[in-house]
Amino acid sequence: MSKRKVLVVDDDLSLRQFLTNMLRRGGYSIRAVPSGEEALAALAEEPADVVVTDLNMEGMTGMDVLRAVKADHPDTEVVMITAYATTENAVAAMKDGAFDYVVKPFNVDELKLILTKAFEKREMGEENRELRAALQDRFGYSNLVGKSQAMGGVYDYIDRVKDTPVNVLITGQSGTGKELVACAIHFEGVRKAKPFRSINCGAIPENLIESELFGHRKGAFTGAVANSEGLFASAEGGTLFLDEVGEMPPQTQVKVLRAIQERKIRQIGGHEEVSVDVRLIAATNRDLTEEIAAGRFRSDLYYRLKVVTIELPPLHERLSDLPLLIQHFLERYGEEFGRPGMTLSEDVKRLLAGYPWPGNVRELENVIQRGVALARTSEIDAGCLPPEILAASGDPLAFPTAIGPGGADLDALMESYERQLLTSALEEAEGVKKEAARLLGISFRSLRYRLQKIGMEEPTR
Ligand SMILES: Nc1ncnc2c1ncn2[C@@H]1O[C@H](COP(=O)(O)OP(=O)(O)OP(=O)(O)O)[C@@H](O)[C@H]1O
Ligand SMILES: [Mg+2]
Repeated sequence: MSKRKVLVVDDDLSLRQFLTNMLRRGGYSIRAVPSGEEALAALAEEPADVVVTDLNMEGMTGMDVLRAVKADHPDTEVVMITAYATTENAVAAMKDGAFDYVVKPFNVDELKLILTKAFEKREMGEENRELRAALQDRFGYSNLVGKSQAMGGVYDYIDRVKDTPVNVLITGQSGTGKELVACAIHFEGVRKAKPFRSINCGAIPENLIESELFGHRKGAFTGAVANSEGLFASAEGGTLFLDEVGEMPPQTQVKVLRAIQERKIRQIGGHEEVSVDVRLIAATNRDLTEEIAAGRFRSDLYYRLKVVTIELPPLHERLSDLPLLIQHFLERYGEEFGRPGMTLSEDVKRLLAGYPWPGNVRELENVIQRGVALARTSEIDAGCLPPEILAASGDPLAFPTAIGPGGADLDALMESYERQLLTSALEEAEGVKKEAARLLGISFRSLRYRLQKIGMEEPTR
């Protein structure tokens, strides 16, 4: 096989040299040029397998390079290098046919991995076009968004279990997408034409959960005024999603275990047993092994449920997915609220990248939704962020001191600054307002006035 040819396009000499050395050591044949124009000239002379291009360059941008390369050499793969601030463009580039992107400062191994995959894709050849499309799709699966290695592992699991009848346990912190994964397994799999039913074991009163699951006969208990089919029966042939399974009461656990083992259920107040064919997917944000140790969860049921376990990583462990998720939610809420084309200010991007995301993707979704709703222009600025994000940054630069090209919203900025300081003073004072006022060097009355003004306290009548 001839040497794998890579063309590097970057106007930064040191990065060009670094990439050339690194890739040459990896056994690639490398050419490096400082501009898009020279890249096209170099390609006309001798094609490359993969072009690695910076996105932000004088003259032809990385996007221009991408389009030109794809027009003349559709089989050449293009990998973008981007600064965090321009990842939206990188996401757009993926849609325009870029193979992948890396965010500066990037990890050398990450780039090598991407190149390896790009070559694999090329070498799979013409006949595998469809497979290639599927590979490229891997920055999403069903409604799931994310191209991190961790999410790649999740997609892989979904792929492998979706057409099988095995029970799946999905674990992960709140807001990591457990329900979305359950839906993907069902709706991408062989059971998709059959029903998907779900029950939140933590939200249903203990005395009703069994009748919800197994159904009941009229008159079986007070309040059973009519026959009810139950979720197991109504999910026949399909999937039953047991959400928050760690909250399931012990006596119900026994019955669910029986239903799994015997593949039969009996309605409450009913006499005969009925066969059921239902795939179970359970989810929990608890550590079930701890629940077992504490005697709250049956280990036999645990092993029946976790034939395959899919563990969803917390968002802060896969921050490389942040730009894609942000773009996804900007598009979704932009459309929903009739505000297409929304973007984030530089400050906001930095704040979001530095935030630990205890509420995971759900929290991110809420932040973007709120931002799209509150922004006064098509750019979401720091004033539209909830106070906890500003407070967590502890970064005074979160509040710009210079006016950017888009101008600034003084009132919104001052209000969010005030909100941040008031919130942290109240936290420090454990909610005692007198103490919070003392910490801020203002009077109690002034504190109340400020709290009311920004809606953190009900106005006094
Ligand atoms: N990878 C993802 N791509 C796109 N949206 C996501 C992703 N993960 C989560 N979300 C969105 O975040 C929100 C929370 O996801 P979901 O309800 O699936 O989380 P969960 O793990 O079930 O949380 P909880 O334990 O609190 O029930 C949903 O609106 C979901 O659409
Ligand atoms: Mg959930």
